[in-house]
Amino acid sequence: MSEIEIALVGCGGMMGVHVHRGFKQLWEKGFRTFKIVACVDVNENAAQKMAAEIAQWQNLRPKVYTDVDDFIAQESSANAVDISLPHHLHHTVAIACLKSGRHVLIEKPLAITMRAARKIIEAAKNKGLILSVAENFRRAPHQRAIKWAIKQGRIGEPKQVYWVDTFERIWYWGWRDHLELAGGGWTLDGGVHFADLMRYHVGEVVEVSAQMANFKPIRLRKVNEHKEEINATVEDTTQALLKFENGALGVWVEATTAPARKSETRIIYGTEGAIDLNTGLFLRDREQPISISELQREFMASLSESEKERLFPFGITDDIAQEVHEFVVACLENDPKVEIDGDEGYRSQAVCMAIYEAATLMQTISVADVMALKVEAYQRPLNERWQIF
Ligand SMILES: NC(=O)c1ccc[n+]([C@@H]2O[C@H](COP(=O)([O-])OP(=O)(O)OC[C@H]3O[C@@H](n4cnc5c(N)ncnc54)[C@H](O)[C@@H]3O)[C@@H](O)[C@H]2O)c1
Repeated sequence: MSEIEIALVGCGGMMGVHVHRGFKQLWEKGFRTFKIVACVDVNENAAQKMAAEIAQWQNLRPKVYTDVDDFIAQESSANAVDISLPHHLHHTVAIACLKSGRHVLIEKPLAITMRAARKIIEAAKNKGLILSVAENFRRAPHQRAIKWAIKQGRIGEPKQVYWVDTFERIWYWGWRDHLELAGGGWTLDGGVHFADLMRYHVGEVVEVSAQMANFKPIRLRKVNEHKEEINATVEDTTQALLKFENGALGVWVEATTAPARKSETRIIYGTEGAIDLNTGLFLRDREQPISISELQREFMASLSESEKERLFPFGITDDIAQEVHEFVVACLENDPKVEIDGDEGYRSQAVCMAIYEAATLMQTISVADVMALKVEAYQRPLNERWQIF
């Protein structure tokens, strides 16, 4: 195949990022073995606007559909889809697209529950199609550098992780504030990126215990000059303890109702030093840390030309452009070996879901049991709501 034809399903905020930082940037760099043929969104204005913007650089205006089923039935040309929808729709849309023979790039988390995620993976495997989860965080050059430094043994054996994010969000964030549409709060939404990074840097998480709360369920929506109160049903505070396969221990906190004082601590301690993901590498015998940018320079200088081209094609360091590029190439070559395939996305989602299960059951939970669908107390109502059996 010399060119893939892609449809964009869900033309909201994140798809805008895929288009601007991904497809458009690649196009401008001369990577043009794709064509965006359709924009699909229930919100016709959003789809029309995206189609018009794409037409300006692609010289072809994608067709607009307001119904996914119509798109699947009528758009014979698209052999791949990029899906960026509210979480409760991921599995139905991805499975329908896969069943109709289209490769899938899908935003994180893979699905609203593990059961739904497993169904997507099965659909891709049954059809021999590419399933790539749009997990961009680990692709950023500084995260690649941190991984490289840890792998080199610069902090010794990783032993402790402290990941603490506290801030306040009182404004209403649409579907994300409703459990049945989002599947969980920030511990799932942002958390699946963080779980992926922890796994990427330290290794698999095997066990978790956790407590959660919804301390301030009211969110404010601006309606003209007024503020309307909306009841949020997702958690706003999570405190979890993690155990990694290599014996490392972790503390993970996400609190979105912490007023006035923000904090963001992301540190991995090893036997010989520490990496602060925001500032740099700290070693016992050095007063000053090696900054993240310095570490990144060292890492880049260590790469061979072919490694550089593999990780940063066309010199592109943008994580979104990289994931889009990898997907297009995988489709062209019909090669399912993408970095964050369904199984990899499933593992990161399982860490988050294990935390929800642990908080629900007030028990230590094995991530393997969550992956095997043996623990679904938290997820059961979601599975029932969306008939995921
Ligand atoms: N990788 C990242 O850093 C990152 C950042 C933000 C969001 N995301 C992910 O991207 C996805 C979308 O998030 P978002 O912020 O773009 O949400 P959004 O609400 O801005 O966009 C969702 C779009 O889906 C459309 N939609 C809703 N129901 C539909 C249906 N039945 N058929 C077709 N279209 C429908 C909406 O009209 C909207 O345009 C989520 O999975 C989210 O977790 C990832």
